[in-house]
Amino acid sequence: METDGDTIKNTPTGFRCTLCNVSLPNQPSLDQHVKGRKHQTLSSVRATRKIQEEHSVFVSGIKPDVSQTEISEYFQQFGQVSEVILDKNKGVYAIVQFDETHSVKAALSCVEHQMKGLKLSVKPREKKDFKLIPKKKNIPDYQQFLDYLKPQLCQLMSVDEQMRYVVEQCQLGEHETEARGLLVQLLQEVFVEFFPDSQILPFGSSVNTFSIQSCDLDLFLDLENTKVFQAQAKSATETVGEGTSDDGRSEDSILSDIDLTAASPAEILDLVATILRRCVPGVHKVHVVSNARVPVVKFHHSELKLQGDITINNRLAVRNTHFLQLCSGVEDRLRPLVYTIRHWAKQKQLAGNPSGAGTLLNNYALTLLIIFFLQNCDPPVLLTVAQFKELACEEEECVIEGWDCTFPSQPVSVPLSKNTQDLCTLLAGFFSFYSQFDFASSVISVRDGRTLPITDFLGQNEEKKAMHETQPTTSPHHSPKLGPLNLLDPFELSHNVAGNLNVRSVLSFQRECQEAEKYCRSLQYKRKSAKGRSWGLVCLFTPSGETPCAKTEQLTISIPFKVESLPPSLQDQLRATGDGFRLLWFQKVCCAVEGVLQRVLRCHLTPSTDGVFSENSAMDAVKNVVFNVSVNDSCEMPEPQNDASPQRAALVGSKRSLSPSGDESTSPQGKKPRRAKRGKPKVPQWNCVQKHMVWAGRRKVRRELIKDTDSRPEGSCVELESQVTAHIVEKEMEIKEPLEFRVEPQMVGGTESSRAELKLVPTNDKTGVFHDFFHFLQTFLPKMVETMLAEERGEA
Ligand code: UTP
Repeated sequence: METDGDTIKNTPTGFRCTLCNVSLPNQPSLDQHVKGRKHQTLSSVRATRKIQEEHSVFVSGIKPDVSQTEISEYFQQFGQVSEVILDKNKGVYAIVQFDETHSVKAALSCVEHQMKGLKLSVKPREKKDFKLIPKKKNIPDYQQFLDYLKPQLCQLMSVDEQMRYVVEQCQLGEHETEARGLLVQLLQEVFVEFFPDSQILPFGSSVNTFSIQSCDLDLFLDLENTKVFQAQAKSATETVGEGTSDDGRSEDSILSDIDLTAASPAEILDLVATILRRCVPGVHKVHVVSNARVPVVKFHHSELKLQGDITINNRLAVRNTHFLQLCSGVEDRLRPLVYTIRHWAKQKQLAGNPSGAGTLLNNYALTLLIIFFLQNCDPPVLLTVAQFKELACEEEECVIEGWDCTFPSQPVSVPLSKNTQDLCTLLAGFFSFYSQFDFASSVISVRDGRTLPITDFLGQNEEKKAMHETQPTTSPHHSPKLGPLNLLDPFELSHNVAGNLNVRSVLSFQRECQEAEKYCRSLQYKRKSAKGRSWGLVCLFTPSGETPCAKTEQLTISIPFKVESLPPSLQDQLRATGDGFRLLWFQKVCCAVEGVLQRVLRCHLTPSTDGVFSENSAMDAVKNVVFNVSVNDSCEMPEPQNDASPQRAALVGSKRSLSPSGDESTSPQGKKPRRAKRGKPKVPQWNCVQKHMVWAGRRKVRRELIKDTDSRPEGSCVELESQVTAHIVEKEMEIKEPLEFRVEPQMVGGTESSRAELKLVPTNDKTGVFHDFFHFLQTFLPKMVETMLAEERGEA
């Protein structure tokens, strides 16, 4: 059972309760707090959660048609099942809770789980720290949602599964969709009272198949029929002289006050706003934004907790929404891609302008960028808009405001793509596509599925204007507003949907694509971490400004000081150096690291001379020690440029004790050793070049070497590992562009937790293999260093 001690931390200004997220200035207030209701409740919730965690397993690989009862029945064979929790949209995972913990063990030890022909994956529950998540009234906390999502994503088996899971978790639920439908119906009933024959049509995210929970509700109030009605009523009034139209409906009230054909959009929207305020229950915060590209009435619905927008000149938006629906219907990989890329873009602050205005991509533009990429895959995943048009029949022809918006109404009319790439590959492809894209000189045409030279658009406006003046039958449409990113609407070809972006936002977009592309080349992206680390999409969802997991979490390799695994002779040496034992141990570690990189892994090493032990490091305890060391066999140091350099002295001191009176020592070459300079020792650093992927397929080669008694190497595991590398180097081609990186060791921690930390910095990683190599080193290096130190026989 966890105690208050786990959650109460000392701080410079008092205490902090990490469970309740509060700071307390002194002991009495802390005592008061822990006795309080909030702390007591949370402590007991935490205890319950812990018990639940210990009593349950995480099951994935189920299908939506599998019921709770079926899962429960299956798991009864391991013990009494107390609860089965299926994920929200039933289908991806379940938590199965047992009465007893030994049932958990039994379920986990079963090698294969088969249920209804499904192969289930059964894992232990992840141990999560229980924390209070503060509630924010009415504001869906996106970050909170992602934090909740990330551990679940880590448990899935592939990036494809992760992407589909993102869709399931984010899309509007059944109830929310239904509630929105009811609101639309209510609005329709109200508006038709005031605007006979009008129609209210939803468009945008709530219906374009890319909805997310709490996305806004975009509505188009179509008044075309009302205008006709009003014109007819007007002429009837003129002839009959009464306020009744020929179909008998009254046209007094609002309609009699305004001529819809002559009124400005702002005037009509004012009227819409008045109707909303007065006649629609639950609607609040109604206001008109008349200076937007498409003027709009904004409102908020309190019960449904949603933001709504009503426009009156937006027939094209309804049509392009149908187009997006068609694309999703034709290609089922589109939705997971759009959801994933939208999350990525939001986290990197590339898309989703707050309140509509701003210099970031809007979601519609981002979706079109994804469609354009899919049109340009080889073979294409999606057809161009022009190709879609060819598949439409006569009844499906559609022209809005002079723009050709023809495409088939049903996905069945569209042939399936020959492209079979999985989602993981397509996502990486998206980043790669735009990381090299020449935004500056091209105009993206989703209609044609290709880029058009920007020069084709320069000066067009003048020409068009002149032409239209002389020949009024020519198109009155102007040219798109050009900017740093030019993305033409698929139908309204004079509209650059990314016209709001500035140079900075385009550069950020491209830079983030490059970062993501690099990450997607690593194993961390493609392969589930066996150690429960962040992998796949999780690292792509790291907010901008925070370094992605690959960079922060794992670029340092830690080698702990473990006295018990050192040979007795070395333990004696350490003891003899008194306070200086940590430095001596660190030097031995550095020497071993160098040996592993150079001898075992065949890295080419060049010492660099940048680092100096810091004033605060554990080394200060021994800063007056005079180094008297010599080159020895086990280190196999590259020939130094200056043997006496302090850096080298610190590096090679592995086999001789650090004695101030080392004048008698001799090097293996029999030369009289030089006395190292007094003063602050330098930390060794190496510039490394790795030409082969010595980490790939090691296990297999090792297994074969061990099996094959003839070629089985004699001696230690260091020898074996060196041979494994030798086999790989012999058989495998060199990496196209060798990987270059720097290793910067440092000694950290006090007596209790002394450890050597190796910071690895890629300096040339054109082929994107650094992260894979790093992950390999993370376990390999500490193990090998430990072996090397243990094998040291203390010849000093
Ligand atoms: P959004 O960019 O808001 O996209 O445009 P969205 O899919 O609704 O995403 P949310 O609402 O941010 O979650 C809404 C709709 O407005 C039309 C499109 O129909 C789009 O689906 N639109 C938007 C245009 O027609 N042109 C534009 O330049 C922008």
